[in-house]
Formats: sequence, C-alpha cells, structure tokens
Amino acid sequence: MNFEKSQRLKRLPPYLFVELDRKKAEAVAKGVDVIDLGIGDPDIPTPDFIVERMKEAVANPAYHRYPSSQGMPRFRQAAAVFCKKRFGLELDPDSEVCCVIGSKEAIAHFPLAYINDLEDVVLVPTPGYPVYHIGTLFAGGTTYYMPLLAENDFLPDLDAIPSDVAKKAKIMWLNYPNNPTAACADHSFFEKVVAFAKEYEIIVCHDNAYSEMTYDGYRAPSFLEVPGARDVGVEFHSLSKTYNMTGWRIGFVVGNSQIISALKQVKSNVDSGQFEAVQEAAIAALESDQSCVDEMRRIYTERRDTLVEGLRGIGLDAANPKATFYVWVKVPEGHTSASFSSLVLEEAGIVCTPGNGFGDPGEGYIRMALTVSAERLKEAVERLKGIL
Ligand SMILES: Cc1ncc(COP(=O)(O)O)c(C=O)c1O
Repeated sequence: MNFEKSQRLKRLPPYLFVELDRKKAEAVAKGVDVIDLGIGDPDIPTPDFIVERMKEAVANPAYHRYPSSQGMPRFRQAAAVFCKKRFGLELDPDSEVCCVIGSKEAIAHFPLAYINDLEDVVLVPTPGYPVYHIGTLFAGGTTYYMPLLAENDFLPDLDAIPSDVAKKAKIMWLNYPNNPTAACADHSFFEKVVAFAKEYEIIVCHDNAYSEMTYDGYRAPSFLEVPGARDVGVEFHSLSKTYNMTGWRIGFVVGNSQIISALKQVKSNVDSGQFEAVQEAAIAALESDQSCVDEMRRIYTERRDTLVEGLRGIGLDAANPKATFYVWVKVPEGHTSASFSSLVLEEAGIVCTPGNGFGDPGEGYIRMALTVSAERLKEAVERLKGIL
C-alpha cells in the first residue's frame, strides 16, 4: 500500500488550533487550571427557543430525507428577510442566497468554482482566518497575501498590490469585523474595493461572520450595501457566533446571482446540504426579535471591558474592539508572539493565540478571545500581573 499523502496535504500549514490544543492538553495534564482564551468558540449555550425548535423539527419525518444542497426555500427566504431588516438589502431568495454548512465549508469550497491552476491568484488578508489560503491551496491556485498593518487600520492597501498580480487575481477575500485584529471597515473602504474589483475583474468574497457581535451601538455594515458591490461579489454569513451555534454548522452566502449559482454547483457535487431540522432551527433564530443577540452583546461587552481595562491597567497595549470577541494585544518589549504566548501559558496557565499564527504581519501580537466569564477574565489579568 502507498499511503503517501497528496502534495496538497503536504503543503498545508499546521492547522493553528491543533497546535494550540496540544499545548493546552499538556498544561491540563500537568494539573494547571487553564484559562482558555485561544479558540473563538462561544462558551454560552444556544438560546432555548432555537433548541426547542430543533427538538420539534428533528421528530418531523419530512426532514429525515436528503435536503437540497442550496437550502430549503424557507431558510433562504428567512436569510433574505434578515438581510433586508439588518442591512436594507433586497435579495432574491432563489438566485441570490445559498445555505451553507457553516461558513467555513463555503469558504473552503468556494475557490473550486473559479480557480483553475497556479496561474490563478487569490488575494488573502494576513493575518487572517486560515481557511482563505487553505481553500486556495486545495483548488490549486496561488495565494497572494495582503498585509493588514496597524498603520493602515488593519485594512489592506489595495494600491500596494502589483498590477500584474491584480490582473491574475480571480478572488479577493475580506473579513470585517476582522478576525484576528477586530478591525472594522466602513463604506468608503468597500467603495474602493468595488472600484478595484471592477478595474481588475476580481470576485470579492466578504466574510461577515462577526457582523452581529458588536459593541457600544456600532452596527457593522454589509459589503453589499455599497453601490456596485453586487456586480462583483458575495458575502458569507454565519449563525455560529450570532446565536452561539458553532456546533450546529449553518450559515448562508448572499449576493451576485452568477457567483451564487457557481457556488451551488460546487456544493451540489460535494455535499447534500444541511439537515433540514438544523435549517428549521436557524429559521427560528433569523426570524426572532433578535433580543438573544442583544443579550449576547451585553455579556461580551462586560467581558471586553473587564479584559481590556485589566490589560491596560497592567501596562499592556490592548486594542478596545468595537466588534468581534477578540482582543488584539501587543506583546511587551523584548518578546515575540511565540515567546509571550508560551510565557503566559507556562507561567500563568492562560491559552492565547500567537498573532503570527494568523500570518507573519501578526508577529508582535497575541489574540485573546472573550470566551470565558468576566470572573475568569479578572483572574487571567491577576495572573498576568503576577508574571509581568
Ligand atoms: C473570520 C471567520 N470566518 C468564518 C469562520 C467560520 O465560521 P463557521 O462556524 O460559520 O464555519 C470563523 C470561525 O471562527 C471566522 O473566524
């Protein structure tokens, strides 16, 4: 037998959280009371009314058959109405909405629709969510990294992309509110993106996974709100963080109908859609009065304030995020991302993610996720105070 793995698997970078989980397991095995601020997975359960809708739906034999891979018409309708209420978008549920099995699935599969070979370039933000590059690699394309730098408010500098690269680019990934930097983008940035995409004929994929996780009254925009965006792009939405549903695996992609149709074609050949009982529960979430989202924001605001004030109080340079549940913290002088995250794990029992794990320009930062209670965050700050 020849079990030699494919080049595409061999070329994969180690998946960031596998490494983190290993280090955490080592610390737990040593008996350390670990505070895990590593992976962005909410600790709060899915709201009861969503769970209840799922319980009813799971008993419905109509949902025990193969689903349609693009999603139930009622799910696509609920997603369109959500986007209308939230962003003022008019979307045709049939041609401009596709249900996905978590946005990660769609992000990973999307390049299969447009990338042929290494000549095709995908523009990927760095530091960034690792799957933009991984999907490119699986589709056989070439990643061109767009650095997100503090001096540019963690927005890519489109003028810095060489024109020969832009000419070969087929897809550009963007993600605001951003993981890991928590930066946000406004209409003026998206307008520049639309102009750039039109000039070079690039499909824009905006990942809006954190659109609802916002603070202090900030409302994150949809990329599709700006004129011309629907001519060039689509937007990826996720119910994972909005409704504490990371385990349920459901999201949707909206926007340009030709692009949506290509994504549906890929998906119909790869998967058979999400269990319709999960879609039914997601409909309950999307059609609800969104008071559960307000409650989620209240909890994370308290946690954010506790952590950011605490870190600043002990002299760390922590950005105060207006969205996402990530705090992007500069490492102290003399440290690297790796040395500081190792120090805080070994000396303080705190797991955080080294910024360079999201890409080289993340060097000099760590990312802390607000996925434990305010009490535990206070404890984390106390422990850090002890070692600094
Ligand atoms: C930026 C970003 N996009 C997409 C995802 C994937 O979310 P989902 O649970 O919908 O697959 C995540 C998850 O952490 C993320 O951080």
